[in-house]
Amino acid sequence: MWDIAEFERAAHATVASLSAYVDESTRGLTPVIRTRPPAELSALLGLRRWISEGGMDQEGYRDFLAGYLAEGTRMHHPAYLAHQCPAPDFPAALADFVHGVTNNPMAIYEMGASAATVEFEVLRWMLDKVGFGVSGGGVLTHGGSLANLTALLAARAAVAPSAWTDGVPADLALLAPPSAHYSVTRAAAILGLGERAVFPLETDPLGRIDPAGLPAALDRVRRAGRRPMALVASACSTGTGLYDDLRAIGGFCAEHDVWFHVDGAHGASALLSEEHRHLLDGLELADSLIWDAHKMLRVSSLAAAVLVRREGDLDRAFQQEASYLFYGDRGFDSIGRTVECSKAELGLKIFLNLAWRGERGLGEYVAGGYATAHRLWRLATARPGFSCPYEPESNIVCFRYGSADVDQAALRSRLIDDGTFYLSSAEVGGVRHLRATVMSPATDDKTLEALLDAVAEVGDRAGDRPGTGR
Ligand SMILES: Cc1ncc(COP(=O)(O)O)c(C=O)c1O
Repeated sequence: MWDIAEFERAAHATVASLSAYVDESTRGLTPVIRTRPPAELSALLGLRRWISEGGMDQEGYRDFLAGYLAEGTRMHHPAYLAHQCPAPDFPAALADFVHGVTNNPMAIYEMGASAATVEFEVLRWMLDKVGFGVSGGGVLTHGGSLANLTALLAARAAVAPSAWTDGVPADLALLAPPSAHYSVTRAAAILGLGERAVFPLETDPLGRIDPAGLPAALDRVRRAGRRPMALVASACSTGTGLYDDLRAIGGFCAEHDVWFHVDGAHGASALLSEEHRHLLDGLELADSLIWDAHKMLRVSSLAAAVLVRREGDLDRAFQQEASYLFYGDRGFDSIGRTVECSKAELGLKIFLNLAWRGERGLGEYVAGGYATAHRLWRLATARPGFSCPYEPESNIVCFRYGSADVDQAALRSRLIDDGTFYLSSAEVGGVRHLRATVMSPATDDKTLEALLDAVAEVGDRAGDRPGTGR
């Protein structure tokens, strides 16, 4: 039984701690990241004692939460520029809290009619934005990797309908650029095609699919005695944040009757920005698309959409019966479309952000991040010692500091050790770069200047002198 008064006190304390946490993070008053070794951190937080003895009370909880928050990574911090996870907006955070209390696993409609209906309407909105309209279908799932797997399962069902019952034919192939997110190749392995069934597409030096190379790629697949199951393009790619030419690639797929899958996990949210929507031109040609809300729609991990142009394609992806669950659909059971059985109320956090900020507000967030990244690129290209291999199209920018032999990964590590900036890193054209992903609305021009100062300083401090770069 819950002690309601105890819950209310703990909840109030949580809100107070989190409010202070977001405030100090947003204002950059603390390190952006701390990474103590796990044993030290476990001892600091008293984890083993709490697990073995229990007995946490209001005071113990407050102390624990303070330590827990202080030792984590701060997504709201202006110096958070690492991976594609946002500083969640508060309406979405409220949804997580509501889910934590109500726990309506709504893949079966009757287990959460309001949650299921919210997901249904959020999906309809997404389908509309994408251009799939009323004949499209979708489902929300726990993350982009699972979403890619689900979409490619739908592709497999379309090309090899008996694969579910009889096993996977040995002649299926997947066409994808080496720059595709690793979950694409992983999906090929999980789906039983095997990694070797992934035929790499030709790209330009920045990893974008070269549409002129597509006929030869298809020819290679056919000469190897294989059938294309799907062709995957990125909008945008994880490493560089650059968009593939969806219209050219989609046109080719339509002409050759190849399932066209677009990984829009990161970049599909640009649909909400008038200024950037053109990057997704041709998206409506896709047979399937994934779109992560936990990247650019400011919701916490995880909430990803799998969208298909023809609703039936998703229903055919999974072909199963379970007498204890699959009966008497009282509205909109999504269980037949997902890997998950129990599934969180993923739609609610997207819905509350939309309802609170409006499509326009979310579009402004996307455009704001893209603009900040562009300013970082401008500032970096103007500074001695920095080099940038391309003009960014999204909120992801890659750059290097110093001469060709400067170890960029080591430079990143030094920044993390200092707790001043948290960047990620990626290879572009086989060369390691620093990678900034602008996710926090608190990242401003002062932050960008300070970042470049800090990169130059740690680079120089270690005896690395700025050179020509590459
Ligand atoms: C383009 C792309 N696809 C898929 C994924 C995987 O998404 P998730 O981390 O939600 O599994 C990512 C993650 O960064 C991504 O950038």
